[in-house]
Amino acid sequence: MVQLKKNMGSGVGKRWGYNHNTSQNYAKKPTQNTHSKNLLNLAYFCSLMQFELTEEHLAVQQAARDFAQTELLPGVIERDEHQKFPAEQVKKLGELGFMGMMVDPKYGGSGMDTISYVLAMEEISKVDASCSVVMSVNNSLVCWGLETFGNEEQKQKYLVPLAKGEIIGAFLLSEPEAGSDATSQRTTAEDKGDHYLLNGTKNWITNGNSASVYLVMAQTDAAKGHKGINALIVEKNSPGVTVGKKEDKLGIRGSDTHSIMFQDVKVPKENRIGEDGFGFKFAMKTLTGGRIGIAAQALGIASGAYELSLKYSKERKAFGTEIMNHQAIAFKLADMATEIEAARLLCLKAAWLKDQHLDYGRASSMAKLFSSETAMKTAVEAVQIHGGYGYVKEYHVERLMRDAKITQIYEGTSEVQRVVISRDVLKD
Ligand code: CAA
Repeated sequence: MVQLKKNMGSGVGKRWGYNHNTSQNYAKKPTQNTHSKNLLNLAYFCSLMQFELTEEHLAVQQAARDFAQTELLPGVIERDEHQKFPAEQVKKLGELGFMGMMVDPKYGGSGMDTISYVLAMEEISKVDASCSVVMSVNNSLVCWGLETFGNEEQKQKYLVPLAKGEIIGAFLLSEPEAGSDATSQRTTAEDKGDHYLLNGTKNWITNGNSASVYLVMAQTDAAKGHKGINALIVEKNSPGVTVGKKEDKLGIRGSDTHSIMFQDVKVPKENRIGEDGFGFKFAMKTLTGGRIGIAAQALGIASGAYELSLKYSKERKAFGTEIMNHQAIAFKLADMATEIEAARLLCLKAAWLKDQHLDYGRASSMAKLFSSETAMKTAVEAVQIHGGYGYVKEYHVERLMRDAKITQIYEGTSEVQRVVISRDVLKD
């Protein structure tokens, strides 16, 4: 198995997107607060647009594909059925560098770009979306949040083992009464001078039991509304932390989803991320990148369902011919392939904008919205193409259909993505 490292391929070959080192960089990198921001962005993007992946990207994609086939495919049906967390597989992903893909190597990460992350997420999710959500939360919510907004001590203490995959992290924003309405945090972090006293309950927490480190959003000063929320690093084994029962879910059943209760948990002040009151902004900024990861997960579920359907329709015969020769099936495959390609381009564009430090909020929500809707639609059609076989477990597509649904819900529902996109387009 190949271990991830920066410049895996020769790295100077074919590129998708912007090439720092060539004379093609003739368009001026746009500033983001000018009137003609969009036109400039377009000119910049078009003048540099290329659709090939680098050798490094291709190598990461291949490594993830190999891992999914050899390590994830065996046992994926059983893990789903018995809700078994893929502990061994996640450990191996960590050893190979997939758990801190975008983290600087000086903090134990693989130093890769967001495009590499999207490619890896797609490949892992084609086979096992329960495993890819563990990877996604650790990479784009926990590691990215800590690397971007944490201080040096927090990075040394928490980011290094998280990026190496030695421990896993979780992101605790949702509450029984604060899902989409994320500013309505009821969990409190009372300021006690040298520490915060944490009380409350968080719901639907991915990696809830397997994580050692929680990033917890909690209200310190309710009078200040969302500006009174703080983001705290909480160790799972702190006194007063209780892990609730594992949720019995429709899909991603191998992943580890729990409620987490806090009762008078003392969190040292040095575990606050950023300035006092930065917690809600921290959550929103981190989720903006996280949504690219979930978009890529949805893309993977869709392309996994499509690949299985294509293969099946070339083998299965009905009415004297392979079913691919029936237009009813061929047209379904055409629609699936077209929508998956559109989803992939949205994911890669959002990733590319993030890598270029351009504004990627709208693109990230568009990628998440379109890819998750595509995942659901494609997986339903994949079951239809497989007929009766699609309805039983060993053909995998029924699991992909169940797994697809969550991508329209977590890290912001499709409705929340439309809120974000519509607010942004109305500024045009
Ligand atoms: N970046 C930076 N700041 C942002 C921001 C962003 N992307 N989005 C909002 N903000 C800021 C706003 O500027 C505003 O600050 P100011 O008052 O200083 O201007 C503040 O945050 C509040 O923003 P809004 O007024 O827009 O807040 P709202 O109440 O209208 O809510 C929302 C907006 C988009 C609906 C938001 O609440 C939201 O994203 N909800 C969904 C939450 C979510 O995604 N939860 C997922 C849970 S984690 C998970 O699922 C992980 C997992 O297990 C897989």
